[in-house]
Amino acid sequence: MVISSYTWNLANQCFILAITVVMSVKCAEMKFKKTATHAILCTIGFVFLSAEGMMVRSHNNWLTRSLHPDTKVTLHFWLQLIGGLLGVAGTLQKSLPKEHHFRTWHGKLGLAACVFFVINCLSGALGLYSWGYRQYASLLVNDFIHNFLGLLTFVTAMLAQYSGYYTGFFNRNLKEHEAFFKYLTAAILLLTAWDPLMIFLGKLF
Ligand code: HEM
Repeated sequence: MVISSYTWNLANQCFILAITVVMSVKCAEMKFKKTATHAILCTIGFVFLSAEGMMVRSHNNWLTRSLHPDTKVTLHFWLQLIGGLLGVAGTLQKSLPKEHHFRTWHGKLGLAACVFFVINCLSGALGLYSWGYRQYASLLVNDFIHNFLGLLTFVTAMLAQYSGYYTGFFNRNLKEHEAFFKYLTAAILLLTAWDPLMIFLGKLF
């Protein structure tokens, strides 16, 4: 049986919603204390909103396929901006009270995701709103750079999320859902990045 691209997209939307809902419920049960706030902000920002933002323009997205192309671009911009800002806020919430920073793989990946997000946001906003920049870096080049940076940001953020499942906090509070979180996060990474990756490779070769 061949599974259509629409079905994969529908499955991915369900996985994203499932991870977000379960993480939100668990963090609410912990009364959003300390790392629970970090985990929920990063999950809603870097997984839920960011993955939805990546998929807005996909032809297989049954939620957005009937929208006007301009509406899709605007939706993509706001989902990525709000998602990234929530992710950065979650990272700062964990990072600011600490004395020693970014010592674990999880911390390093999280920091990288935040830095890539800021650079990508600037490149996306300049491409959308700055006529001068558009003339300087042709639309094609800017689109290519934005495509690459978007993928890099999303993949790094999802790896940071995945590595969050190896922290003491996760093992103490969410260990019983380990397989659920790990398999679904890996599936979301693959299914969400697939279309943008194919578009990027198409531009490259
Ligand atoms: C994309 C999602 C995530 C990002 C970008 C992110 C980012 C970060 C960063 C940058 C730090 C290091 C702060 C510092 O050293 O100053 C950190 C620490 C931490 N995060 Fe996350 N995080 C994410 C998701 C999660 C999740 C889902 C969990 C748990 C379920 C989690 C649990 C922790 C814990 C326990 C620490 C402290 C231990 C350590 O530094 O490794 N994070 N996070």
